[in-house]
Amino acid sequence: MSGANAVKEDRLWQRHVDRAKLGGTPKGGVNRQALSAEDAAARNLLAAWARARGFSIFTDAIGNLFVRREGTHPHEQPVMSGSHMDSQPTGGRFDGMYGVLAAFESLEALEDAGIKTKRPVMAVAWTNEEGSRFQPGAMGSAVFARRYELDEMLAQKDWKGVVLKDALAETLKAAPAPMRAGQPGFAVDAYVEVHIEQGPRLENEKKTIGVVTAIQGSRRYIVTIDGEEAHAGTTPRAARKDAYAAATRIAAAMYEATTDQDDTLRFTIGRVEVSPGSPNTVPGKSVFTIDMRHPDNDVLASYEARLHEIVQSKAAPCPAAIERVTNVPPTNFDTGVIGLVRDAATRLKLTNMDMPSGAGHDAMHIATLCPAGMIFVPCERGISHNEIENASPSDLAAGTRVLVEVLEKLANK
Ligand code: GLV
Ligand code: MN
Ligand code: MN
Repeated sequence: MSGANAVKEDRLWQRHVDRAKLGGTPKGGVNRQALSAEDAAARNLLAAWARARGFSIFTDAIGNLFVRREGTHPHEQPVMSGSHMDSQPTGGRFDGMYGVLAAFESLEALEDAGIKTKRPVMAVAWTNEEGSRFQPGAMGSAVFARRYELDEMLAQKDWKGVVLKDALAETLKAAPAPMRAGQPGFAVDAYVEVHIEQGPRLENEKKTIGVVTAIQGSRRYIVTIDGEEAHAGTTPRAARKDAYAAATRIAAAMYEATTDQDDTLRFTIGRVEVSPGSPNTVPGKSVFTIDMRHPDNDVLASYEARLHEIVQSKAAPCPAAIERVTNVPPTNFDTGVIGLVRDAATRLKLTNMDMPSGAGHDAMHIATLCPAGMIFVPCERGISHNEIENASPSDLAAGTRVLVEVLEKLANK
């Protein structure tokens, strides 16, 4: 039996159903933020499944969780697949989790089909891909790829002031796994990540497999505006330093400046804080986040300069600052891996198309270490980062079949 034929659609679907209970929300989505109790529960379940199949597991100093199926040449560099198990606060059941479950299903399919591979094949769940609780996102893979400093990441705080190092220690206590000592990162021969598309193109074009060629560049910022708290009933306009009023002027100018003709630039203000948050006090402080993306890094740089100008020109009378918290350049995936994905999809008679990714993924960091690529499957109406996110069992299985074929080829190279 081939590895692809050993993929079990029912098993894979049931695993999604089981996972959706960990942090499940009333609307059918999940809230499983990085290094939360729900994240720990997801780690424990993956570890239990791995142990039951005789695969080894270990974690590293940023909490990435690895599952290893041994190869006939254990000292050869492994091939790896995976994604993330953390979610948005109002996330769906598939963003990230599908990539981890597809990788695990691949290991099981190889096992069930009795296929031996020369290289070890590994599944990985990267820590904190979403970056909604702790900034920056795609943290575990970036530390693994030595793009971010471990110590700097351990010192990050969430919006409530919880230090990442403490949240990680608590998570690893609740979900223990053997620790790989030292800085995260080891040699990997190739990496392939599976994910739902999170956009509408595959569904619109009636294709089952997206052969992912690239990921657009992304940058995130925090804008902080300092005002002066004052009585809402007595303070004349001229005497006010209203931090929220300044934030709205800045935001309005930014929306206008980033409205490009061909709708390629992505600009989002996703979190706004106003304090002290009292109806009858003029806001003394406002903080908001910006997420900006484009396929061309030079275009991102020129918009960034514009954002700085806007903060300077629109904030008065309040002092304001814009801080860049992430800068991930565009990723071009390895042509060899892209070719293997396309060939596997075609061999399995699955309709497919080449496409870039609008969303960021852990693969963008691992691609700096080794040849890497991605496989997309459709999601209903392209909706993601939403509790109603949905994908079909047969598409999820199809993407996994492509993955097994590609991993088998890479693992025997
Ligand atoms: C990942 O969820 C991203 O923000 O692209
Ligand atoms: Mn994701
Ligand atoms: Mn996401």
